[in-house]
Amino acid sequence: MDAKRVRNTVRRWMFPTEGGSYMGGLENRPVLQHSYGSTVVDTDGKEYLDFQSGQMGAALGHQHPRMVAVIEKTMKTMMHSTNTMLNVPRLRLHERLGKLLPKPLEKSLFLVSGSDSIEASIDLARKATGGMDVIGLHAGLHGSTSYLTRSVSFNWDRRKHSIVAPATASILTPYCYRCPLRLKFPSCELQCLTSSLELADANFTGKPAAFIGEPVLSAGGIIVPPKGYYKAVREACDARGMLLIFDEAQTGLGKTGKMFGFQHEEGVSPDIIAISKHFGGGLPISGVCSTAAVAKKAVDNGYFATRSHATDPLLCAAGEESLKIVVDEDMPGRAARIERRIKRALRQMAKEFEIIGDIRGRGVLLGIEFVTDRKQKTPANEETKQIYDYCLEKGLIFQIRGVRDLKNVVRLVPPMTTTTEEVDRAMSVFYDALKSLGQRRRRRSSKR
Ligand SMILES: Cc1ncc(COP(=O)(O)O)c(C=O)c1O
Repeated sequence: MDAKRVRNTVRRWMFPTEGGSYMGGLENRPVLQHSYGSTVVDTDGKEYLDFQSGQMGAALGHQHPRMVAVIEKTMKTMMHSTNTMLNVPRLRLHERLGKLLPKPLEKSLFLVSGSDSIEASIDLARKATGGMDVIGLHAGLHGSTSYLTRSVSFNWDRRKHSIVAPATASILTPYCYRCPLRLKFPSCELQCLTSSLELADANFTGKPAAFIGEPVLSAGGIIVPPKGYYKAVREACDARGMLLIFDEAQTGLGKTGKMFGFQHEEGVSPDIIAISKHFGGGLPISGVCSTAAVAKKAVDNGYFATRSHATDPLLCAAGEESLKIVVDEDMPGRAARIERRIKRALRQMAKEFEIIGDIRGRGVLLGIEFVTDRKQKTPANEETKQIYDYCLEKGLIFQIRGVRDLKNVVRLVPPMTTTTEEVDRAMSVFYDALKSLGQRRRRRSSKR
């Protein structure tokens, strides 16, 4: 499809997207045609290393051969089914997931999108506790449905919504590189949490229901809460009769180097976790997992959650195969190895390029924060865009992220199947981008 036809189709038929959003100006970006492994190919046949894993749904690699085989096979047997009767792939998936979950998590229900799983998790916590208020981190993102999940996606400007759900409020994100309280960890003793909870307690209108958080905040700019933070959150939840929900959409099933992102913090056991993204190996299926006690309390109070396609054999078979692949191919181990290789390369670059302010993240969920000067930490939004453009031109795709007006964090999310050669190739493009940026900046300042 040529560029003119793309533009015409977008202008004439496509629902418009806000120019400034991360999905704005799509007609100026590559139009993708096929994909394999860590590579996507556009309509001109140009290949790109996909260091965003699609929309994070391709963390097992695009078109994983085992996924393709299971999907093909299931399509010929039974694609869709009623959720008023059981089907075999669904039963198999409950069992496989149940055995994989860290105890006491064991019960699961299935839905379609990540947002579905968050809505269902919050409903579950409310029904199980009888409480209402839900708090989340101010740089968190938990979904795009127009009411509940957007209301707890504080990193998406709430002014964009026509209305927000009641009993949803944010607390400060422990963003240590830019501490909102200008303190230093560990001497801060997690003051951000203490002060936030004091405010939250003052604002609760009744019995609170839950805290929701990402083990690593992805869209907010790859923010890794400091050691002990989630343990303190767990204690705060227990003290208030609230449940702890982890949104593992982006951190679950191997991506951080452990099976689940919350397992990096010792002694933290959530009541509920939500999984999605690569859970379907490329197809949309999500899950809500909880303890038997939480499930029972909620169901006794009338809880249920489903969707017309929630228990489709096609999606459940894909879910089961993806879990098997995660285990058989040691995805957590692969993610940890990729992390080490990328961080080593980036640390080397940071010695040469002052613009690298911070390198962070876990496994294949990594972030590089760019600043024009390391002392003031002035966000290098413009330069980050130039790095993005250079890399895209040279065949490396990733996304730019950050909290609100900060658009200075490069988020790298390579599929866990990415080879060493592909990692090195990506790092070499990245290095060249930084070098070319430096040359442009020097040229600009010599002209002044
Ligand atoms: C952490 C997190 N939770 C939930 C969602 C929502 O998932 P979905 O877009 O599948 O509804 C996203 C989407 O990017 C996400 O990053």
